[in-house]
Amino acid sequence: MCGIVGYTGMHEASPILVAGLRRLEYRGYDSAGLATIASDRLIVRKRAGRVRVLEESLEQEPAPGSCGISHTRWATHGPASDRNAHPHIGGRNAEVAVVHNGVIENHSALRRELEAEGYTFASQTDTEVIAHLIARELARDGNNLFAAVQRALPRLEGTYGLAVVSAKCPGEVIGAKLGSPLVVGLGEGEHLLASDPVAIAPHTARVAFLQDGEVVRLTPDDFEIHHRERGEITPRIDRIDWKPDAVELGGHAHYMVKEIREQPDTVLDACRGRLRRAEGTSRFGGLNMSARQLRRVRRVVFAACGTSWHAALVGEYLIERLAHLPVEVEYASEFRYRNAPLDDRTLVFVLSQSGETADTLGALREAKRQGHPTLAIVNTVGSTIAREADGGIYLHAGPEVGVASTKAFSAQVTVLTLLALYLGRLRHLSFTDGLAVVDAMEAVPAALQRVLATEPQIEAAAARMAQAKSALYLGRDLHFPVALEGALKLKEISYIHAEGYPTAEMKHGPIALVDRDTPCVFIAPKGSLHAKTLSNIEEVRARHGTVVSVGTEGDEALAALSDVFLPIPDMPEVVQPLLAVVPLQLLAYHVARLRGCDIDKPRNLAKSVTVE
Ligand code: AGP
Repeated sequence: MCGIVGYTGMHEASPILVAGLRRLEYRGYDSAGLATIASDRLIVRKRAGRVRVLEESLEQEPAPGSCGISHTRWATHGPASDRNAHPHIGGRNAEVAVVHNGVIENHSALRRELEAEGYTFASQTDTEVIAHLIARELARDGNNLFAAVQRALPRLEGTYGLAVVSAKCPGEVIGAKLGSPLVVGLGEGEHLLASDPVAIAPHTARVAFLQDGEVVRLTPDDFEIHHRERGEITPRIDRIDWKPDAVELGGHAHYMVKEIREQPDTVLDACRGRLRRAEGTSRFGGLNMSARQLRRVRRVVFAACGTSWHAALVGEYLIERLAHLPVEVEYASEFRYRNAPLDDRTLVFVLSQSGETADTLGALREAKRQGHPTLAIVNTVGSTIAREADGGIYLHAGPEVGVASTKAFSAQVTVLTLLALYLGRLRHLSFTDGLAVVDAMEAVPAALQRVLATEPQIEAAAARMAQAKSALYLGRDLHFPVALEGALKLKEISYIHAEGYPTAEMKHGPIALVDRDTPCVFIAPKGSLHAKTLSNIEEVRARHGTVVSVGTEGDEALAALSDVFLPIPDMPEVVQPLLAVVPLQLLAYHVARLRGCDIDKPRNLAKSVTVE
């Protein structure tokens, strides 16, 4: 999705605006630009391509000024080009510059209206109509950009996160939010604006997340927020407890591999303060539902997208196993329109790393509209989904920058394991069985360190897959979702087609794909279904398929059947997904490296899909 940064303060804006875009690059984009105000001049620099191209143009033609806005564009209307890059300029004398994240549904009608009044358009984007609308209002009230923006917004149908500057109001940055995220950074003698707090984390830990319908006016020493109905409001100030280098690479080659290697700490942080050894259970602070209310729940529905959907599927197996509660996992985009029959004993959970995914937010709002209690498992503090749910659980995974989600998956599965334990112990799960889960969870970080130590082996194995045209990922029970996740990792960063299946399902069609060029990746740690999986592997070998397996260290029988054997420590089944996924993450990473792919910014993908 598009990235937005705004700055007003005592420093030159351009370097801060560009550095902020650098931190948002992972979101995926195709062009970048900025606008600054230098005394009474509006200066605009924008280019198709990477932020690097914009930086080169700034070296030739600097953009002075201590107030400005910048943007990375993920194209929705019109191809990637200098003309379509943001900022867009509004007014007959280029009075206003606007950057925008979202979609304006009625942009064509507005464009016709404005053209009829003599406004000329330079781009094919929906955003440009916003710039002219604001300029038209500013022309009616020359020196109040804040008021002009508030008068223009009601004409827009659709979603926006906006930042606006004008040479008529030097030192001011105006922001407005409806459906796309926008956060204010509160500094000393400076204020910032961003579509994601990661862009401004090095400047301040104090942030205020704008809510739908709010407009903010920033100056170096002050800020004010107005709501379209409620007037001036006092925002909640959140603290982003990220270590300053949390968004830096820290010596790793890519954010994705940095975040894979962070996972022992990720699991520790997701468990912190939530394990109750003395009671053989877990505890969450933000569910906002009592034990009595949770005991009354007769069904759980998860709604999520992508990797979060895979994590939810692990949660289904875990909650049904430990709490005997029926669970349904829905694609959020389907759930919000399919009108699934839900009774009043159904608890709806949404899962989202970003907390801004439009489909997942839509599913949450649909569940709330029907009157269901809604909970959210989210990573980004203060995000829209986190704020709109009735309660929830934060992942505490820190910023996940790589587009391919890794540590967030592990954090989600950790939280879901603890949730299954909690719900189980509310019902029939014994203290002894509960304590066994607590023990297993506490052993996971050290076990993950041992898996990470096998990275050289995994890197070598990647060479066996780097030229494949397609791959099958196969797992049973708890490892079926892990197979799906492994397949998604491979396809989204190496562009090799991959599919995940329940292992036994292979016989019902996919085995037709098996040949020497189609690696079959089996997730087969020791467990109740291990022997059956060995039989499935034999079926692949009988057809000269290449077998890559993830299994329990020392499993000679599995190793003997595998062209590549990737060991994980012998751990209880309930925590095996947390271990088995890591070799698959590293496998995808090293295959993508061998293929020279853009790992942190895979083609066509965005980190947070805030459009439907
Ligand atoms: C996963 O690697 C992808 N980046 C994508 O499928 C992602 O999981 C999905 O868009 C959901 O994002 P969310 O967790 O932020 O809602």
